[in-house]
Amino acid sequence: MAVAFDDGRSFLTNTISLLAPRGNTISITAAGSGPPLILLHGFPLDRRMWQFQWSALASDFHVIVPELQGFGMSTLGQPQVSLADLADDIETVRSHLAAETRIHLCGLSMGGYVALEYWQRHRRHLAAIILANTKPGGDTQSARQGRLAMAEAAVAQGTWPAVSGMLPKLLGAGTRANSPELTARVEEIMRSAAPESVAAAQRAMADRADFTDRLSEFTLPTLVVTGEEDELAPPAATSRWAEQIPGAVFKCLPSAGHLTPLEAPREFNTTIASFLRDTARP
Ligand code: MLT
Repeated sequence: MAVAFDDGRSFLTNTISLLAPRGNTISITAAGSGPPLILLHGFPLDRRMWQFQWSALASDFHVIVPELQGFGMSTLGQPQVSLADLADDIETVRSHLAAETRIHLCGLSMGGYVALEYWQRHRRHLAAIILANTKPGGDTQSARQGRLAMAEAAVAQGTWPAVSGMLPKLLGAGTRANSPELTARVEEIMRSAAPESVAAAQRAMADRADFTDRLSEFTLPTLVVTGEEDELAPPAATSRWAEQIPGAVFKCLPSAGHLTPLEAPREFNTTIASFLRDTARP
């Protein structure tokens, strides 16, 4: 795919597939050169949620966008996966595409849960971590039940009946009112997720670890980002847990909901580029 920079230059993104040790294939799109920056998408989305990051970030970074198991062009290995499996997939990606240096890892929402699990399992490879529109805690019992119900609904009725209720929570009220094209685009991406992948991801998230009591152990440069209108990772709660991470930078982006890279791309790109430039070294 050709991507144009704002200044008129253009470059190509390259999509490859890697076979992971557990037998699933991981689709990865990459472009640019510089320190490696791996971007992990949210649920139930895929690489297309990073569409506005290429032109801004690939001029300074080797931007690497893997798709999580079952989403986009990545296959689901086993019907049951864990966030640890997904973090190990990211380690497979790193060892193939960025073996020489430490990486910057940015995960949004479910991608943030995977980034936390990557920190738990492979932190020696991290230069910096960016946790966007996410949270470190586990689920309450009722949230867990809701996830298991969504997993069953996806398998029984298909993806859209199961996930449609999430659309208003993914986008801020301003985006939904003023950006019908972006709203339709997110709906299109959600609809394209396979029911068994939706089910597997919900079951994996229901069983995720709770990192709340471990935030003081984050000794690497950390940026925490959320959107002013994010109902799933609200600014007040997000800034409270960000304060537990020594030296973490917290940014709340105006006029954006849960999908800050799509809803406030310019602010998102500037925020992460300046954080990485000022704070983090590979
Ligand atoms: C996401 O955007 O990835 C989801 O909101 C994560 C979740 O369901 O907790």
